[in-house]
Amino acid sequence: RKKIGILTSGGDCPGLNAVIRAVVKASKLKDWDVYGIPYGTDGFIDIARGKYQPEDLILTKHGYNLPGILKGLDVLQFLSGSVLGSLSRGYTEHSEMTAAILRGYEILDLDVLIVIGGDGSLDIVHDLAEKGNWRLIAVPKTIDNDVPFTEWAVGFTTAVDIVTQALYDLTFTAASHERVMIVEVMGRDAGHLALHAGIAGGADIILIPELTPAINLDIIDGCCHQLEKLRSEGRQFAMIVISEGVRNEQNEREKYIGDYFARRLDEYSKVLCKVDHGFCHLNQMDLRVSVLGHLQRSRPPLSLDRLLATVFGIKAVELIEQEKYDQVVVWREGQVQSVSLKPIINIIKKCHAENRCAYPVDPDGFMVKTARS
Ligand code: F6P
Repeated sequence: RKKIGILTSGGDCPGLNAVIRAVVKASKLKDWDVYGIPYGTDGFIDIARGKYQPEDLILTKHGYNLPGILKGLDVLQFLSGSVLGSLSRGYTEHSEMTAAILRGYEILDLDVLIVIGGDGSLDIVHDLAEKGNWRLIAVPKTIDNDVPFTEWAVGFTTAVDIVTQALYDLTFTAASHERVMIVEVMGRDAGHLALHAGIAGGADIILIPELTPAINLDIIDGCCHQLEKLRSEGRQFAMIVISEGVRNEQNEREKYIGDYFARRLDEYSKVLCKVDHGFCHLNQMDLRVSVLGHLQRSRPPLSLDRLLATVFGIKAVELIEQEKYDQVVVWREGQVQSVSLKPIINIIKKCHAENRCAYPVDPDGFMVKTARS
């Protein structure tokens, strides 16, 4: 009878609960015990301190204490957030915290831990696993879609839909007021979300860090000319998507890059109009910025994410049955597969050390070509 731990780590996203449900359902069929670790690896600290009794954490036995007539696993795939809670803290400077995590893990005496996490969390948990000699199975999730070796991470397609819907809604507001609407989209250092949603939402301009690492005069000039062209063709509004990973002119991260970009665009268009003796289509261009923020993570998963989460969860259990550990479940070439965790962690570590994204948008890829046309 296997003892499996499961935790969610890092920023929440749509589909986390659907993975948990799939793992619990598949494990129940094998009569294994699944222990739900509350709040990421911090849960092990609380187990070590006696806040939780191992017995109470067995999801395969107790399910979840959801209110109302629909209980436990029945509705879990529909819910946003994580029923387990999610934290992503590395305790590199606090050896006593690390020791408490390792102690908590030992108390549970798990055969394997399933980590549902993005690149940062996988890195943190992998370090702990090396210290504690844990076996891991990783399930990639992130609205940024920046985990290497998988075409899709859980949460991404729902986030694309959220942003696409927001662009659709804002288009009518922009059009009613003849405005240029700048929409700032999440993605940390990756432009996948901005690019996919920008295309689906019909944006006029899409700025992503892979193609526009930093705002500079050329970019501002190019955008102004594109906006002027649209106006000269009779369009009275425009939609611009900017990914949060785009940097300012000094190549630094801005808290709100959309605001920075709007300011620069506004200043430059005024200069252009002066040079043009006021006869310029950009005259009195009315700019507004919308930062979509955490709304992008907070919806229930749509069907594609529920499907992905479910096949990922089942694959994780299959790998455990085959005793094939230290694997990442991935989606490649139209099917679920698994790849070794270590090489992925090495890539993530190298990219983080060099301040690069581990799985950026391919500048020659299909999506970029689509956006360009
Ligand atoms: O990695 C997911 C993500 O939502 C990024 O897109 C974003 O930059 C970051 O997390 C925000 O993190 P927090 O929830 O800590 O503000």
